[in-house]
Amino acid sequence: MITETAVPKQRKQRVNWSALRTDFPILDQQVHGQPLIYFDNAATTQKPRAVLDVLRRYYERDNANVHRGIHELSNRATAAFEAARARAAQFINARSPNEIIFTRGTTEGINLVAQAWGAKHVKAGDTILLTEMEHHSNIVPWQLLAERTGARLAYLPIGGDIGLLNLSQLDEYLTRQVKLFAMTHISNSLGTINPVAEMCARARQLGVTTLVDAAQSAGHRPIDVQEIGCDFLAFSGHKMCGPTGIGVLYGRQEVLEALPPYQGGGEMILSVDFQQSTWKHTPHRFEAGTPDISGAVGLHAAMDYLDKIGRPNIAQHDQELGAYAYAKLSRLGQGIRLFGPHIGRAGLVSFLLKDIHAHDVVTVADQRGVALRGGHHCNQPLMRKLGVESTARASFYFYNTTEEIDRFAEVLVEIQKFFGAA
Ligand SMILES: Cc1ncc(COP(=O)(O)O)c(C=O)c1O
Repeated sequence: MITETAVPKQRKQRVNWSALRTDFPILDQQVHGQPLIYFDNAATTQKPRAVLDVLRRYYERDNANVHRGIHELSNRATAAFEAARARAAQFINARSPNEIIFTRGTTEGINLVAQAWGAKHVKAGDTILLTEMEHHSNIVPWQLLAERTGARLAYLPIGGDIGLLNLSQLDEYLTRQVKLFAMTHISNSLGTINPVAEMCARARQLGVTTLVDAAQSAGHRPIDVQEIGCDFLAFSGHKMCGPTGIGVLYGRQEVLEALPPYQGGGEMILSVDFQQSTWKHTPHRFEAGTPDISGAVGLHAAMDYLDKIGRPNIAQHDQELGAYAYAKLSRLGQGIRLFGPHIGRAGLVSFLLKDIHAHDVVTVADQRGVALRGGHHCNQPLMRKLGVESTARASFYFYNTTEEIDRFAEVLVEIQKFFGAA
C-alpha cells in the first residue's frame, strides 16, 4: 500500500493560526444563533480581506477589457491579468507563463484537455487510466471522450475504507494501450494524498501522458509541476482563498503548442477570414472570449496571501487538524465508520454515524452552527465501491482550530443522542 505522508518541506516559522481568522470577515458570525464553524472547505474556501480588497480596488480603478485597448485602463487591466499568469507559473514552478491557461476551474481545465488533447491523441482501442477515487470532473470528460473515440476507461483500484491506491498493481494497469493517466492529488472524499510524482514517473517511463487534478491540493501544500513531472495539472481558485470562476490549467509548453484550440472566438486568433482562421500561440490560443480578469487579479492576491503564511506551514497544519479530527472521531468507536487513511491524511474526515443518514447529520449539525457536507461529494463510483450512498464530510482549512473540532465532536454525540443511536 502506498501513501504520501510526508509534508514536503519543514515548517519554516511559527504561525499564529487563530490570528489569521480575523483576515476572514465571514467567519465572525452566528448561524442559527450559534458561532459559525465552517467545515466545508473542500467545497469552497472563504476569502481573506486581502483578496476582497484587491477585487474592489480593481473594479474601482482599473477595470477594462484586456489585450484589446490602447488606453490606460486597458493597459492596466492587461498588465494585471498577465501578472497573475506569471504569478501562477511561479506558484507551481512552471517553466514559463506560457504554460498557464486561465480556466473557470478544475472542471474546465480537465474538459479542455479531454477535448483539445483528446481529439488529437486518442483513438478507438486506446485506454484512459483513472483511479477509483476520482471526482466526477475527472471521470465524465473522459467518458465523453471515450464515447466520441471508442476509447475505454480503466480504474486503478483502492483498497477498502482506508482508501489507498496500491502502486504494486500499476504495472498491470499501465499497459501499452494507455494513452493518458489522470489522477487526483488529494481525494476530496477520503483525504488520501497520492504520490503523484511517483505515479507520473511510472507513466512517463512508458510514454503515457499524465494529468494531475490538484483541486484539493493547490491551496494546501507546495506544488512543483517540474518535480511532479506531469504533462497537465488543473486547479480552482475558489478552493484556495481566491474567487469563484477562475482556475488554472498547467500544460507543458511542447504539449500545448501541438494542440488545436479548445473554443473559438475573440482573443484566440491571429487572423480570421470568411472561411478559415489562424490561432495564437499558447496560452492565448486556449482563452477564447473575454476572460475572468478580476478573477485572475483575485487569484493573484490569494496566491500571495497563501505564500505569506507559507504552504509548507499550511500543509503541516492541515495534517495536524486531519489527524486530530480522526483521533477525536475514532473515540465514537462502533458508532462511527471513518473513511480514508489512518495516518498521513489531508485535512478532511468523511464518516457515517451508525444508523443515521449523512443528510440528517448535516442538517442537525447546521442547526448547531457547524457547516458540513453530506452526499456523494461528486464521487458516486467511489461511494459504490465503498458500498455506501453518501458520507458526511468535515473539511478543514488553516483558519480552523482544534477547539472547533472539539465542538464538532460534541455535536456528533448530541446528534447520536437526538436520533437515539448513542
Ligand atoms: C478532487 C476534485 N476535483 C475536481 C473538483 C472540481 O472543482 P471545480 O468545481 O472547482 O471545477 C473538485 C471540487 O470539489 C474536487 O474536489
